Amino acid sequence: MSSAIESDAFAVQTFGISRTYGDLTAVDGVDLAVGAGELFSLLGPNGAGKTTTIKMLCCLLRPTGGTATIMGHDIQDDPLSVKRVIAVSPQETAIAERLNAWENLSLMAGLHGIEKQAARKKSGELLEMMGLTGRGEDRAKKYSGGMKRRLSIAMALVSDPQVLFLDEPTLGLDPQSRRAIWEHIEALRGKKTVLLTTHYLEEADALADRVAVIDEGKIIALGTPGELKGRISDTPVMVVEAENLTAEAIEALRQLYPVVRAIEAGVEIEGEEASVYDIQDVLRPRGITIQSAYRKQVTLDDVFLHLTGKQLRE
Ligand SMILES: Nc1ncnc2c1ncn2[C@@H]1O[C@H](COP(=O)(O)OP(=O)(O)O)[C@@H](O)[C@H]1O
Ligand SMILES: [Mg+2]
Repeated sequence: MSSAIESDAFAVQTFGISRTYGDLTAVDGVDLAVGAGELFSLLGPNGAGKTTTIKMLCCLLRPTGGTATIMGHDIQDDPLSVKRVIAVSPQETAIAERLNAWENLSLMAGLHGIEKQAARKKSGELLEMMGLTGRGEDRAKKYSGGMKRRLSIAMALVSDPQVLFLDEPTLGLDPQSRRAIWEHIEALRGKKTVLLTTHYLEEADALADRVAVIDEGKIIALGTPGELKGRISDTPVMVVEAENLTAEAIEALRQLYPVVRAIEAGVEIEGEEASVYDIQDVLRPRGITIQSAYRKQVTLDDVFLHLTGKQLRE
């Protein structure tokens, strides 16, 4: 395959894209290539440069350096072609609160020059898809945060975009509403190219085919969630939670295993050979009961901590 064909296969490609605000470099030479049909996540803390990146890709903000193409169209040379194939559900959702869901959707369809009857049909499908059928006649201001967000995504889908940008689609929602939105995003997998930004690790982990970790405007890691997690460590760790764990008991475990770390809830033991039964044999005679023992799962939080020395928490 020639490289030209390969690069045509990218729905979104950025070339050192940058944006400064005065002295501040919000986005600092970002190179990304998102495949057609990919569900790609830009993961980073507040202020990392996610929204600024999305705004540039949507032709809402000019880069101060570098550029990008969307479905092969340059965002600076050919913004009209770009706008024809993209849609965005912005971080601050742009729904009209005084209008109901049907009206919001038809307004959007009108903007895209979609004929009335086709718009009506499409709106019905999207309300259904986003789980809003039955609430379509209610004014949006009566909606919960999760419903507003689902309406905003439905509005972005009206024009049947090839590339959908979702900027923090679950920002500030409770875990249950967040999961509901994940299901709706999941349903788009393979049908649309989706570039989703989030500062929730679980979200990137749950949804993304690939994740780019962004911090202070720079991409600091890129890969599938599995690859990113695998990069930190392949040493298995067993967590053993037990109350009243004494220093003497921990010392006794150290006779058995080379690496035993005391943690608040108990101990972490490194190595394939850690066995609950052997650990129990050490603890039980000392009157210590194991509350739980499990193999530690590496999370993207560990990845971020490893890369930046900072915790990526809300
Ligand atoms: N219009 C603006 N003027 C000045 N600074 C801005 C502006 N918009 C964003 N920034 C700054 O750029 C950086 C990146 O912001 P943003 O892209 O919104 O981050 P994120 O979406 O990852 O939270 C932040 O330091 C932010 O304060
Ligand atoms: Mg943002």
